[in-house]
Amino acid sequence: MALNKKIRRIGVLTGGGDCPGLNAVIRAVVKTAIGTYKLSVVGFENGFGGLIQNRACDLTVRDVVGILPRGGTILGTTNRDNPFKYQMVVNGEKTFRDVSDRVIENINIQEIDALIIIGGDGSLSIGKDLYEKKGLPVVGVPKTIDNDLSATDQTFGFDTALTTATEALDKLHTTAESHHRVMVLEVMGRYAGWIALEAGIAGGADVILIPEIPYSIKNVYEKIYQRQEHGKLFSIVVVAEGAKPLGGDMVVKRMVEESFDPIRLGGIGNVVAKQIEDETGMESRVTVLGHLQRGGSPTAFDRILATRYGAGAVNLVMAGKFGEMVCLRTPNIKSVQLAEAVGEIRHVPVNGDMVRTARQIGISFGDK
Ligand code: F6P
Repeated sequence: MALNKKIRRIGVLTGGGDCPGLNAVIRAVVKTAIGTYKLSVVGFENGFGGLIQNRACDLTVRDVVGILPRGGTILGTTNRDNPFKYQMVVNGEKTFRDVSDRVIENINIQEIDALIIIGGDGSLSIGKDLYEKKGLPVVGVPKTIDNDLSATDQTFGFDTALTTATEALDKLHTTAESHHRVMVLEVMGRYAGWIALEAGIAGGADVILIPEIPYSIKNVYEKIYQRQEHGKLFSIVVVAEGAKPLGGDMVVKRMVEESFDPIRLGGIGNVVAKQIEDETGMESRVTVLGHLQRGGSPTAFDRILATRYGAGAVNLVMAGKFGEMVCLRTPNIKSVQLAEAVGEIRHVPVNGDMVRTARQIGISFGDK
């Protein structure tokens, strides 16, 4: 690949929800940029907020020492502050303004030749718009525990969230078995059921409810009764936050107007547990795993993927491949146009191998 000689200084930011492995990407960006290409690196604080307000600091190799195993992001992040729809208070009234020109001014002030955006669907969509509408040389890195970006085999952060959810299921099993209860675990994932599906398989769930397969609660009761008939006096149910009954809707917890994705899901676990207890008479308890899934040290898999993405993003910058995002096409790191990468959610294929395998070992999805 031809090296782009004009690049001297690059910027990096983390946008959207935090995710295990963000620091590993930042570390790889800094080490590759400085060590391999002799560039300098600027980190913007708190996602696009730092770009809009010109809050930035130089990052050296010393700044990234020891951050590989750390969760969160040393740069800070937010899922607000979209430069094309920036919330302001004018004459006491909340209003949204396009402040994308400020971003370009600040990029010029910082003398940055390219910007690496580490983010999920929302942040990468903004990156695409900054590239297409403002001509900003942008490269993307796909991040999210939800694993719902269609253009990559896997996002970093997912494996850690999956491990956390699996460990939670292992722990819930002991109480379920000892107390003869139904234990319901609600996991994150937005509109995709990857965390629920894979944790459910890895953690030995009896029922998995995901957004892609609308369920009938009667089928869930049926599965629990069948287990009772076989002497199994407990059941484990994993519910994705976006799961919905046939003909029904997802449970929305709250709306966050100024966020890239204003809908916050949550609460379906309680609904399902109450229905099960009311119908079967079995004691049912709910655990909402929440942000535990986003926290903590990344797994070895996520550290490696994040490192490959970070180095890969700098390679894309040096090759002048702007408007693109690094992606995993197993076993290689490749790239894809941001325009192709955003907007389309990667759902669980309902007739795919993973769902089929789960069904074959007796897991119910509540649809039959
Ligand atoms: O996209 C990551 C994610 O953790 C989703 O799984 C979840 O729906 C959402 O973010 C929660 O966002 P917040 O931290 O803003 O409540």
